[in-house]
Amino acid sequence: MPTPSESATNPGLFEAVVNLCKRRGFVFPSAEIYGGIRSTYDYGPLGALMLRNVREAWWRAMIQERDDVVPIDAAILTNPKVWEASGHLATFTDPLVDCRNCKERWRADQIEDVCPNCGSKDLTEARPFNLMFKTYVGPVEAESSVAYLRPETAQGMFVNFLNVLTTMRRKPPFGIAQIGRAFRNEITPGNFVFRTREFELMELEFFVPPVDSPRWHAYWCEQRLAWYTRYGIASEKLRLRPHEKEELSHYSAGTTDVEFAFPWGWGELEGIANRTDFDLRAHQETSGTSLEYFDQATGESYLPHVVEPAAGATRAMMAFLLAAYDEDEIGGERRAVLRLHPRLAPYQVAVLPLSKKDTLATLSREVLHRLQRHFMCEFDETQSIGRRYRRQDEIGTPYCVTIDFESLEDQQVTVRDRDSTNQTRLPIEDVVAHLLGRFDS
Ligand code: GAP
Repeated sequence: MPTPSESATNPGLFEAVVNLCKRRGFVFPSAEIYGGIRSTYDYGPLGALMLRNVREAWWRAMIQERDDVVPIDAAILTNPKVWEASGHLATFTDPLVDCRNCKERWRADQIEDVCPNCGSKDLTEARPFNLMFKTYVGPVEAESSVAYLRPETAQGMFVNFLNVLTTMRRKPPFGIAQIGRAFRNEITPGNFVFRTREFELMELEFFVPPVDSPRWHAYWCEQRLAWYTRYGIASEKLRLRPHEKEELSHYSAGTTDVEFAFPWGWGELEGIANRTDFDLRAHQETSGTSLEYFDQATGESYLPHVVEPAAGATRAMMAFLLAAYDEDEIGGERRAVLRLHPRLAPYQVAVLPLSKKDTLATLSREVLHRLQRHFMCEFDETQSIGRRYRRQDEIGTPYCVTIDFESLEDQQVTVRDRDSTNQTRLPIEDVVAHLLGRFDS
């Protein structure tokens, strides 16, 4: 396993994973037949499966396994007053500079006063560029019908705070969680799906009594770091990094990033912010609706503070792929293998009849249907069994179940493990329980 400093000089890994994503149907450049659109990607069959697994892994840890978090699914287009109150209209900006020589535009904080395209130092002064995509709601393109694509899902949780509090009979500490698309008109997207203009966010707004926010912030930093190791990223490839004061978002009193050792160096996977009562206070003032919580035990009303772990699903998927990619040698033959956590792999099981002959077809389909009730399965009966194992290794399928001619006699199949390549012979009726037992988290 490379250390972060080694991985920083490992562009080969990045290239190998990007190629594999295209070749095996994880990620395609968007609208490729029209020449694509810069830094925009479509998730192919395996990418769609894996992204769904990333979401589910987050949902499991953040909602299903807790009794203090509830989910919502808010609209992407909402009243523009939300963005006025939240401060996004005024301050959700990046500093933009133009190169007077080649006319390219850059984020001032990402270049060293030199145009990365042509090397010119003839750059304009930096000016704020708002990252929100603007559109119009309804048939009239007027100022009064302007709306924005959400740049974060968080505001959907804040404007529904009261609805959730009352309908779900909650009291702080409790959280509202949401997964959904977000849109930012990034000046310089890049590094594959690391920074795109459309991406997926997985966010929790955790509402706590104000005095408790430092404790909950520390708690969520630990929890979130542990989530990435639980799903297979080695701890030496992860770190927590508190933000410097000048890096903080307009709403944050303190943010710590979970960072991953990307092939180009450490990069943000998720931010855990202490948003204080910034958002609830702003919405209370702008809407004129009280968003205070009345604590019956103390007889006091207060605006809860918010601790927010905000993770990118698409960026997390990329990190899981980079961390899982490996090459080794099996029987003198080189293989590429994705050592993905079984719950993240696009397919959990591949069902492989040893031969395409009709004699195996009925039993193979029976085994497939039995497994499909529990796992995402691929059925493959073409090519040699060795090649089929390699194809499954390369896309991270943790288990292959092979049906051979003996299976017809003894009702047993062979289960092959991706990482060890060990093979175990098992009765068909035990296979589901055997595999479920291996999905420990
Ligand atoms: N509500 C807080 C918030 O949105 P953020 O740090 O701006 O915080 C959270 O974004 C996470 O979303 C980031 O840590 C990153 O994983 C992901 N993310 C942000 N911008 C992205 C982009 N342009 N492309 C892909 N992922 C992005």
